[in-house]
Amino acid sequence: MKKNKKKYKIAILPGDGIGPEVMKETYKIIKIVKEKFLINLKTKEYDIGGVAIDKHGIALPKKTLNGCKNSDAILLGSIGGPKWDKLSSKKRPETSALLSIRKYFKFFINFRPANLYKKLYYLSPLKKNISKKGFNILCIRELIGGIYFGKPSKEIKNKKEHYALDTSIYKKKEIVKIAKIAFKTALKRKRKITSIDKANVLKTSKLWRKTVNEVSKNYPTVKISHLYFDNAIMQIIKNPSQFDVILCPNLIGDVISDECGILTGSIGMLPSASLNSKKFGLYEPAGGSAPDIKGKNIANPIAQILSFSMLLKYSLKLNHISKLINLSVKKTLMKGFKTFDLSDGKKFITTKQMGNEISKSLIEEYKNEKNIISKNI
Ligand code: IPM
Ligand code: MN
Repeated sequence: MKKNKKKYKIAILPGDGIGPEVMKETYKIIKIVKEKFLINLKTKEYDIGGVAIDKHGIALPKKTLNGCKNSDAILLGSIGGPKWDKLSSKKRPETSALLSIRKYFKFFINFRPANLYKKLYYLSPLKKNISKKGFNILCIRELIGGIYFGKPSKEIKNKKEHYALDTSIYKKKEIVKIAKIAFKTALKRKRKITSIDKANVLKTSKLWRKTVNEVSKNYPTVKISHLYFDNAIMQIIKNPSQFDVILCPNLIGDVISDECGILTGSIGMLPSASLNSKKFGLYEPAGGSAPDIKGKNIANPIAQILSFSMLLKYSLKLNHISKLINLSVKKTLMKGFKTFDLSDGKKFITTKQMGNEISKSLIEEYKNEKNIISKNI
């Protein structure tokens, strides 16, 4: 293999819950990328989330933020757990670390690809006649706007009343930015976007729909359609293969992406990439920290491994290796290996075994490539 002379730095943030264990399996893949594919990757670990609160009293320490700033990309495990649930929303790891880091680096683009290979239809909880068709959906979620960040957001308690409020707000320019990304991305796919909103009720959704339609005029070859959120949830279950790119505001994208994830078999398979306009990015499984299965060696490491694969593709432009990792995951699943979440609860392999099997597959892919290259010389 020709040596790529570039040097890359990756900040690794294992975080809480199953984060550290699925990250451990991803290190096996990173090792192969370094030692077989000869990519000069330097990794350095930093604390984030609940573990950082315990160690440093703060969920997103300066040192972590600086480490991320000085890297080419960030690979995150997951954040949060019951131990920190009682903290005020300002201090809770989900808000004070995850939402803060997204906002800090202006990661407004969130790609969540949900892919059900036809041959792996049986992993899906859908009926066979639907899952047999497979699907390849890219959920594009706006990540730093909407009700997640709108102000005011507070709880008011006085003598007379007790209430809480959040503010759903979208500026037109925020919608334009994410819509353009969706259209540009759709050009490289099946040229079909379904935008999801609740424009029959919400003002922000009305502006969302109007703006997406305006942006669509610059992309005449892309077919745009709109669905109300409640209907979209049903249509995705009924016939997921009709969708290509699904464009969503922040909160709606949170829900839709989990739905797409489970339809591929498990949310433990759903990777994500959060990018800013410079394509600097944070890569993390979309499924969360799963504290209930922490430390049991049953978590599915696939979402974490596929998140690393997305990192190679989007931030390091190592598209080819990224594809080989995706292929290794597919082949491993096709061999019948399943982690607990994909299984019937009786026959399954552990987190570590899944990491080993995917590593084996990737080494096979590497050897195949080497053979092809040497035959061509
Ligand atoms: C996700 C998660 C986060 C979100 C939580 C943990 C704040 O559910 O990445 O989908 O809501 O964005
Ligand atoms: Mn979520």
